[in-house]
Amino acid sequence: MSAIPLSIETRQLCRRFGDFEAVRGLNLQVPQGSFFGFLGPNGAGKSTTIKMLTGLLQPSSGEVYLLGHNIWQAPIEVKRQIGVVPEKLHLFERLTGGEYLEFVGAMYGLSEDLIQARSEELLELMELSQRNDRLIADYSHGMRKKLALAAALIHNPRLLFLDEPFEGVDAVSGRILRELLQDLIARQVTIFLTSHILDIVEKLCDHLAIIHQGQLITAGPLQEMLDRLTGETPAGTASLEEAFIQIVGGQKNTRQLSWMQ
Ligand SMILES: Nc1ncnc2c1ncn2[C@@H]1O[C@H](COP(=O)(O)OP(=O)(O)OP(=O)(O)O)[C@@H](O)[C@H]1O
Ligand SMILES: [Mg+2]
Repeated sequence: MSAIPLSIETRQLCRRFGDFEAVRGLNLQVPQGSFFGFLGPNGAGKSTTIKMLTGLLQPSSGEVYLLGHNIWQAPIEVKRQIGVVPEKLHLFERLTGGEYLEFVGAMYGLSEDLIQARSEELLELMELSQRNDRLIADYSHGMRKKLALAAALIHNPRLLFLDEPFEGVDAVSGRILRELLQDLIARQVTIFLTSHILDIVEKLCDHLAIIHQGQLITAGPLQEMLDRLTGETPAGTASLEEAFIQIVGGQKNTRQLSWMQ
């Protein structure tokens, strides 16, 4: 039996939208301190799962435990300790980045001095401090992502949920972000991440789960998964991209549009 405590555990987690089952009987186990990649094709149920894990969407059935608490029974206790960058960002457009961080810090009950010090550092790190009178309404897509990440970090969470954090972020900021996430892992923060950029997932994550059509297909340490696949690959080498395509049943031959001959 593994002695490592779990930061996230779900039991038979389900979510239906009408007749459609978006998430079906999901049993996830995320070890404390892991960098956990949650992968799946478009529409697989990743964002729906993250919303249920973070208290944003009520499950149809099943249970969610974060840091030992049932999020739906002790939401405040849990939310104090987690940070979330959701798929769709809901920022307050008429605030500046600094004002937004001030608001979020106050929501978490941080002192004014602490908010001031942390937001200055976060804005600097995210390269958002140059024009600090600019309203969020005038931010670019990538700037919004970075501000959302800063807001998710201001209360120093122990568990971080990131739904596509690299989407739309430039190469320089991408590297800053990767280094920041690695720093957090070194400080025992658990990170639960979805991304379609498999190169980054392969470099950063140590654990992986793949879902397809709402069901868990495989989960475990990344290296074990790659090793298993390496054994099955004729060339003896396997990238995460190959593993992913094989696991979710993608086709290797290129499909063509009938009128493009
Ligand atoms: N509010 C909703 N009402 C109806 N169907 C929904 C709703 N939210 C999600 N779905 C459906 O649930 C399925 C899973 O959606 P979800 O957003 O979780 O996918 P995803 O894995 O995050 O995909 P992507 O990689 O494209 O972000 C999709 O078929 C989607 O259409
Ligand atoms: Mg999604």
